Amino acid sequence: MEKRQRWSSRTIFVFAAIGSAAGLGNAWRFPYQAASNGGGAFLIPYFIALITAGIPLLILEFAIGHKFQAGAPTAMSKIKKGWEWLGWWPILISFIIVTYYSVIMAWVFDYLWYSLTTAWGNAPQDFFLNKVLHISSGPGELGGFSLPVIIGLIIAWIAIYWTIRDGTKSVGKVVKWTVPLPLAMLGILVIRGITLEGAVEGLNFYLDPDFSKLLDPKVWVAAYGQIFFSLSLAFGVMIAYASYLPKKSDITNNAIITALSNCGISFLSGFAVFSTIGYMAVQKGAPVAEVAGSGGVGLAFWVYPEAINLLPFGNALFALVFFIMLLTLGIDSAFSLVEGVVAGLSDKYSWNKKKTTKLVIGIGFIVSLLYATKGGLYWLDIVDRYINNFNVVTVALLEALLIGWGFKSKKLREYVNPISEVKLGPWFDILLKVISPLMLAIILVWNVIQEIIDAINGTMYEGYDLWAIVVGGWLVLVVLVIISVILAKTKLKEIEPEEVLNEE
Ligand code: PHE
Repeated sequence: MEKRQRWSSRTIFVFAAIGSAAGLGNAWRFPYQAASNGGGAFLIPYFIALITAGIPLLILEFAIGHKFQAGAPTAMSKIKKGWEWLGWWPILISFIIVTYYSVIMAWVFDYLWYSLTTAWGNAPQDFFLNKVLHISSGPGELGGFSLPVIIGLIIAWIAIYWTIRDGTKSVGKVVKWTVPLPLAMLGILVIRGITLEGAVEGLNFYLDPDFSKLLDPKVWVAAYGQIFFSLSLAFGVMIAYASYLPKKSDITNNAIITALSNCGISFLSGFAVFSTIGYMAVQKGAPVAEVAGSGGVGLAFWVYPEAINLLPFGNALFALVFFIMLLTLGIDSAFSLVEGVVAGLSDKYSWNKKKTTKLVIGIGFIVSLLYATKGGLYWLDIVDRYINNFNVVTVALLEALLIGWGFKSKKLREYVNPISEVKLGPWFDILLKVISPLMLAIILVWNVIQEIIDAINGTMYEGYDLWAIVVGGWLVLVVLVIISVILAKTKLKEIEPEEVLNEE
């Protein structure tokens, strides 16, 4: 067996965890979730979701990673026999996610280059879809590769490999930069944004509270969904990261610090995004709602670039700041996903970690090529939605139940309290055993019902054909579960000990 790697300090661990949590979800998802789900009033369900599910599950993931000193599959199998598959499922989800997250990183790399000349010109949307992606007519037409995307993708995977090649050691060096740097960039963008004319209109759109929305279950589902994705929960990533903590190490406070920093970054991102969009609205004489788009890919690659075009000075500079922010926010989320997969495999099969890293990255790169085709954006969109709305929520629900009831939340408290600065009282059991699973179950049922209604009405997500939804959504889910069960049942031959020693 190789000796288990360790983070070099508590700060580095917390940085790595924040790096994983703070990603594109903060920059381009949160602001829009807030704006369209009650504005300032959204902060109420969001905060409740953070307290009732986000922080408890983060504590849980840190605790079991630390206790069992292993990635998710091994940890789950030690908690209860027969549950190893529940550790593999999130690992496979992570793998799927990084195959398209890396493609988004590829676009961001391309845009660092385009920023220098604001190459998108007067038609950013057309530039992105037709000049960069060369987008095809639909998911049925893959249409070969887009050259700029392939180039960006190779750079993205090299960056991921380079960062995690030495595990915690090299990751530690990188997160020292990729966590503070996006914050600095964000600071610049917020200051630039709020000093623009029209910023107030944009911020009103973002935060004007509509309390009536609190009665809409959709808003609550959105809040819980956002918390999970944003905190990288139920992906096996936080379990893996915590497994590299030394024996004596705080758990609870680290989880609270990670969670609050992450949510702070989200909140601040909204200021950068919507102040600038408010300015654009005023410049164009149009309502904010009309120019804002709906977040995600559109925000980053055409709405924001268009707003940048209208800035009075320093366009290329602010474009660069924006894309450096996206890159440094996203890249540590991307490599954390790979780390989760690598930890899962190397811990279960006692594989050499370096070789496993190369293997996972090699396969990851090949799979990611699907999204680098001209039809890739459609598949990215479909897979992303179904992975997050169904797979992740189910894993989180089962995880809360398994640990809360199977492992026993009291035992979890007794484990973390002596080593942690913040002590958990018996109230924590109610959170973990009842409230978190209940909320997750409601969300899952809600999502499934919505999906069935859509299928019956023939109004598939984004108007995609049923076959594409079945393949990119449901088939992926079924295949992931099957592979999880198979992996849990296998016991591959261990690599020869000498081979491991030679590598050391
Ligand atoms: N939390 C990241 C984000 O907000 C995404 C992510 C999810 C990263 C799961 C790792 C694991 O963008």
